[in-house]
Amino acid sequence: MLMKYEVLKHLADGKWHSGEELGHAFGVSRSAICKIMAQFTELGIEIYRIKGKGYQIPQGLELLSLEKIHALLPKNVTKQIQLTIMPEIDSTNQYLLERQKIAPSGTAVFAEYQTKGRGRCHRSWYCAFGSNLYFSILWKFEQDAAELKGLSLAAGVAVIHALERYGLHGLQLKWPNDVLWNYQKVAGILIEMNGESNSSTHIVLGIGINVHLPQKDNLPPGCIDLTSIISHRPLRHQLAAYLIEEIIAMINDFSKKGFLPFFPQWQALDAYFQQPIKMITPQKIIEGVGKGINQQGEYLVRDHQDNELRFLHGEVSLRSNDPLRN
Ligand code: BTN
Repeated sequence: MLMKYEVLKHLADGKWHSGEELGHAFGVSRSAICKIMAQFTELGIEIYRIKGKGYQIPQGLELLSLEKIHALLPKNVTKQIQLTIMPEIDSTNQYLLERQKIAPSGTAVFAEYQTKGRGRCHRSWYCAFGSNLYFSILWKFEQDAAELKGLSLAAGVAVIHALERYGLHGLQLKWPNDVLWNYQKVAGILIEMNGESNSSTHIVLGIGINVHLPQKDNLPPGCIDLTSIISHRPLRHQLAAYLIEEIIAMINDFSKKGFLPFFPQWQALDAYFQQPIKMITPQKIIEGVGKGINQQGEYLVRDHQDNELRFLHGEVSLRSNDPLRN
């Protein structure tokens, strides 16, 4: 990956580079460069090729830089994190889960690409190189796991705050924490735990944001990228910095006050409140009307017999053909 990544940095400027120039710069043949370009296409990077001119990434790529992200973060936030950027990794969540015993609380990672990005309910998470944001942070809470109920909902609120600071409006949440714009998914959150020590609960909070998909057809059904919403390509460094800031603020608040401060904020963002929905659980599908959450973060559904049912796990879907469930 390292040499591929170096070639990519060269092409990130959006200018034309001939196979000969690249071959010379990296000490490889033109046909080796041609093979590398084919691999870039497989990674979801759009490459133009013209005989005699070479290769170009139209509009270039904004590859993530640690220095640029740090420069945008307030000092009190940088003090709380140890951030790394990986060009390619299986999954940023997996990376931190494997290191959670030795890595300090606040270890965080962005990846330009994930080969096995994972989503909720054992789904995979679509990846394209250098276009979206794939972020995970390890946190060691003093509370036990039971007290962290609602953390994933609070994370959804924090992601919306970050996107709003970037100027995106009209974002909503689908329980527990899908970030939607006009009922299309913009971002997803996956919290994983891999054991507790005596005094703390270790969690890995992973966030994927669809920032800019060069080939929109590759987006899974029911999803949308930020470029399509704001009609220009967002700056990933600024988004990354807002995301870190809001996540750290949320974690600090949650550690002191739990879910309570986030409860009214989540309610106000519920996309499916008073909507005809289905709640899909491994055991059954229940139809009813969405009634928001309670203070424990459970989702409430009023069924056709007028019973109010509570769910701690499950998947909410609009009854009118939710594209996210197809
Ligand atoms: C969902 O299904 O909505 C959750 C998606 C979470 C995706 C992110 S991308 C960064 C982190 N690493 C992973 O493998 N998954 C999460």
